[in-house]
Amino acid sequence: MVKLIGGVALVRPEESGDVEETVRRILKRHPRVKVILRYWGVEGEFRRPRIKVLWGEVPESIVYREYGVEFELDPASLMFCLGNKFERLRMAATVRGWEVVVDMFAGVGQFSIPIARHARPAKIHSIEINPDAYRFLVKNIERNKVSEIVEPHLGDCREVVEAVGPVADRVLMGYLDNTLSFLPHALRALSEAGGVVHIHSLSVRGREEELAEKVLAAAENLGYAAKLLGWRAVKSYSPSKIHLTLDLFALRR
Ligand SMILES: C[S@@+](CC[C@H](N)C(=O)[O-])C[C@H]1O[C@@H](n2cnc3c(N)ncnc32)[C@H](O)[C@@H]1O
Repeated sequence: MVKLIGGVALVRPEESGDVEETVRRILKRHPRVKVILRYWGVEGEFRRPRIKVLWGEVPESIVYREYGVEFELDPASLMFCLGNKFERLRMAATVRGWEVVVDMFAGVGQFSIPIARHARPAKIHSIEINPDAYRFLVKNIERNKVSEIVEPHLGDCREVVEAVGPVADRVLMGYLDNTLSFLPHALRALSEAGGVVHIHSLSVRGREEELAEKVLAAAENLGYAAKLLGWRAVKSYSPSKIHLTLDLFALRR
């Protein structure tokens, strides 16, 4: 299946087969695409895409529109996960106007921008470690006119959270690489009144309850009264794994 994002067609390696035939088929069906990329997924701490150009020239940036929000990004160095679309909407619909939100893995603003546009909370601290992604985060804040709400921070969320202090009513942990190791920092970002942490993690299919118990135990061991408000499957990750979000309420004991 071909995925289209801002005029870029992404072809999974196992589906690309004969290159010429693949290119011809895609251009026939989607005559307006600017470039066709073979896409292996994202890798490393910065979640850079591994791609190969099959046809066309990669533009410096593309604009992807979703739920009244515009995201600009460089498709050669950054990737945008279309499978998280409903989760972005869910977050925008969940946040309330009085909240302070900390987005620990902001990317180009995938969660921060829709939340700011639609929920208009008091403040969002958006933290991103990759300077390329940060550049587009700043652009997207301006592009969507939410600079009075979203404050961008370039750096490691573990350090930035300490500098920002215990201010959050809600913390977003939209990252799949050993996310639980960041939980102590997410919990320290919560205000004295406690708050909700949205933890993204991979789970073995059918063992979601085990992951939920592990998260609860981790929060309790760190000195928090914790309650799991729920979890949902965001998308299928592989035949044996799914991407989950767990919504955890936590309050320091
Ligand atoms: C896969 S993107 C996800 C963006 C968005 N949260 C989402 O779920 O769609 C994860 C982002 O986290 C950033 N990141 C990784 N480690 C980080 C850290 N220690 N502090 C801040 N950002 C980090 C990466 O550079 C990347 O842009």
